[in-house]
Amino acid sequence: MKDQLKSIYEEAKIKIERASDSAELERLFIEYLGRKSKLTNLLRNIKNLPVQERGETGNLANRIRQAIESGIRTRRQGLKAPTGHKTLIDRTLPGIMPALGHYHPLTKFIRLVESIFISMGFEVVSGPEIELAKYNFDLLNIPQDHPARDLWDTYYIKAAQGNKSFEQKEQLLLRTQTSPVQIRAMLKRQPPVRLIAPGRVFRHEATDSSHESTFYQCEGLVIDAGVKVTDLIGTLSIFLKRIFGENVKIRVRPEYYPFVEPGLDFDIRCQLCGGQGCSVCSQRGWLEILGSGLVHPVVLKNMGVDSKKFSGFAFGLGLDRLMMLSNGVKDIRLSYLGDLRFLRQF
Ligand code: PHE
Repeated sequence: MKDQLKSIYEEAKIKIERASDSAELERLFIEYLGRKSKLTNLLRNIKNLPVQERGETGNLANRIRQAIESGIRTRRQGLKAPTGHKTLIDRTLPGIMPALGHYHPLTKFIRLVESIFISMGFEVVSGPEIELAKYNFDLLNIPQDHPARDLWDTYYIKAAQGNKSFEQKEQLLLRTQTSPVQIRAMLKRQPPVRLIAPGRVFRHEATDSSHESTFYQCEGLVIDAGVKVTDLIGTLSIFLKRIFGENVKIRVRPEYYPFVEPGLDFDIRCQLCGGQGCSVCSQRGWLEILGSGLVHPVVLKNMGVDSKKFSGFAFGLGLDRLMMLSNGVKDIRLSYLGDLRFLRQF
């Protein structure tokens, strides 16, 4: 009988250990401890044993009963509050930080540009991306039939048919440059004026590593008594040194823009190839980064400024290109892909 008891115990132990849910534990409880179980039967038969065996066997049977019962109880608790490694919660471990985004590299760069000009006494203004042709062209000394208008051919916008709230009397377009903000700003200001106007512009353009159809410019306008070309070159040189360091190589060449006279383009040594020539600088070693000049007297007049008393300079920076050069980015299109592998590097 002792052997029978021991084998029941061994069998029950294994089954209890392997039980995968509480329903199975209930079944095992009945199987081993229920009224009709083998163990209960054996316990009942103890009284038929020879007297000298009864005590010892009864003792063993009771211990086995208790062991099976406590085994089932322990496993039942274990299943309610699992302690397996997979589900173990260690409250002392640091929590999982939620992923935090950050500003786009262009936004960061625009803020840097703004802070540099603000430190030189400029104010920051903005204008609409959908612009009237008169501000984008006519008042900037680019009349209807001027060939320069072709260079800046753009997307024109029609009001939706039947739109009562907006009656289109003037030509609307996606602005090709931030220069219209010069005119808009001067409708509300009198010299002396120092302002910048960063913003998005749109071009009818085939894209490549250094051209996009949508990109950012930053317009600048200074109007005061006796403003000269040297003020323009001085201001922009300081700005470029603040961005690229004291040793930046700058080249200034004459260029034509209808709204300035004289007009100047600023190039900087291509930072990506050090001037050797690469795809970003079209093998030239120099990159055009801004157009500028002294504000044309006709434009001053259109702004309501007396060109006998005041003169001024204006410039338009290509923010995307400057950002690329200062960060070593080789393709302008990367800024607009929304690819996290690119964005996470900033
Ligand atoms: N608006 C010109 C462009 O988009 C740049 C520019 C601005 C040139 C101001 C001269 C003065 O190319």
